Amino acid sequence: MSKELIRLKDVSMTFDGETILDNMNIYFNDKEFLTLLGPSGCGKTTTLRIIGGFLTPTSGDVIFDGVRINDIPPHKRQVNTVFQRYALFPHLNVYDNVAFGLRIPKPYEDVSSVALSEASGGKKRKKKLSETEIKSRVTEMLEIVSLKGFEHRSVSSLSGGQQQRVAIARALVNQPKVLLLDEPLGALDMRLRKDMQQELKRIQKQMGITFIYVTHDQEEALSMSDTVVVMNAGKIQQIGTPEDIYNEPKNAFVADFIGESNIVDGIMREDNVVEIFGRKFRCLDKGFAPDEPVDVVIRPEDVDIVDVKDGALTGTVTSVTFKGMHYDIIVDFKGFKWLIETTDFCPEGSRIGIKIDPDGFHVMKKSEYSGMFGDYSSYSAEYDEIGDVEYEESSLEDEADEV
Ligand SMILES: Nc1ncnc2c1ncn2[C@@H]1O[C@H](COP(=O)(O)OP(=O)(O)O)[C@@H](O)[C@H]1O
Ligand SMILES: [Mg+2]
Repeated sequence: MSKELIRLKDVSMTFDGETILDNMNIYFNDKEFLTLLGPSGCGKTTTLRIIGGFLTPTSGDVIFDGVRINDIPPHKRQVNTVFQRYALFPHLNVYDNVAFGLRIPKPYEDVSSVALSEASGGKKRKKKLSETEIKSRVTEMLEIVSLKGFEHRSVSSLSGGQQQRVAIARALVNQPKVLLLDEPLGALDMRLRKDMQQELKRIQKQMGITFIYVTHDQEEALSMSDTVVVMNAGKIQQIGTPEDIYNEPKNAFVADFIGESNIVDGIMREDNVVEIFGRKFRCLDKGFAPDEPVDVVIRPEDVDIVDVKDGALTGTVTSVTFKGMHYDIIVDFKGFKWLIETTDFCPEGSRIGIKIDPDGFHVMKKSEYSGMFGDYSSYSAEYDEIGDVEYEESSLEDEADEV
């Protein structure tokens, strides 16, 4: 069903001798909601600007519908952008802000962009639309962004969320194939952000076009996207569905950036057997070399608290935070602090045992990020006495009973 629309092939970008994008390879499918996710400064905006045509990559190709478009200027690409600072025209009302894009049409059909007009099925748009046609398009767009009836309002009288809707309508009214959105909800408060996330998703589906969305907010990325691209330091770390990215992070950077993760050193003893803290546990992972050192991710919600005598590991609770639905507790295992989510109240200072099911482990290859993330020591200021993990070697059969 999905057809490739845009591809970045071996794209690198250098500013003043500094590599900002390092050999990016990525494709974007037609009608897909794809999010570039990563910390500030990782190169998300630079990537969008390359797709939009505002920057030419230092090396590599930008392909649109099979055609190289490196040298096609922005106004000749079937791509529009919505920025965080959505510069609306303050002296124009809502209607005229949206109509603006139609009155000065993007000349997609310009002869110098044969490739693009072919890409759009050879369809040529009239150079100038009639006011009747403009009215019908603007009205339809305002309906899509839920601003029907706001036509004559001055944009400065609108809330931030409403202004952002106007910006989206303006960017969509001339029917681009792709909408680029650079942290478009960044200026809105939390509640409004959540509403707008749902709205954007709906608009994208309804219009049936490709959205390439940029955010540093992992929750936003997971809840909106068909595909998430995790970036760090100008490099793609992982591409996948939100579920893939959360459940099967590729390295410690992704595991740490997406959700909460305890990440510990481990050894893959054999298929389906991982060792952490000197003890063997059953897991679902396989395909590693025997005794390969690995990074092991254990999500806070995958740890069960049990009596000390029943625990595969035992530790000391060093902090407790009430979160409404559950408690976040920090537990010290031999100086390594884990975050555990639990509905059982465990007071600070108490000793607890833990149990982890095989599907609670996620084993990753060692990477340049090994050892950098996944310890929750900074969660609590005081560093407690080292809890004595039960270190005695035990056979897997024992483990299978216990764990
Ligand atoms: N025009 C430029 N000249 C020099 N450095 C730039 C330029 N644009 C971006 N950078 C640098 O590139 C890096 C990535 O920037 P950017 O793509 O804006 O990241 P993000 O959007 O992920 O926060 C940053 O270190 C930034 O300072
Ligand atoms: Mg940016």
